[in-house]
Amino acid sequence: MSPYEEVILEHWRNPRNKGRLDAPDVDVVEANPLCGDVVRLQLRVRDGVVEDVRFDGRGCAISQAAASLLTDMIKGKPLAELKGMKDEHLLDALGGVIRTRLNCALLPLRALRKGLSSA
Ligand code: FES
Repeated sequence: MSPYEEVILEHWRNPRNKGRLDAPDVDVVEANPLCGDVVRLQLRVRDGVVEDVRFDGRGCAISQAAASLLTDMIKGKPLAELKGMKDEHLLDALGGVIRTRLNCALLPLRALRKGLSSA
């Protein structure tokens, strides 16, 4: 199994920060237009920092595992830093993603960008 497959499988089986927040400061839903899969991302923000985060959604293992991984990556981080987050940050943390699944892997990051644009 490749490192990428191991990361996906691990997060798919043991999702981090899955669920809902009460009264989140950011609440955003993003869908992949190619398949209809969905990631919902909720943030609680204090003093410009992500204090807490949850995700939910439905879709392929890659999109949902990437969402779980992303929540781990952004918790405790300043919004200003997250606004500069590049695709490669998430893709590297996933261990590299095959080209045909980039839209799946980047769905949660698109949700984050959408949420931050209104934060
Ligand atoms: Fe829909 Fe992966 S197949 S996001």
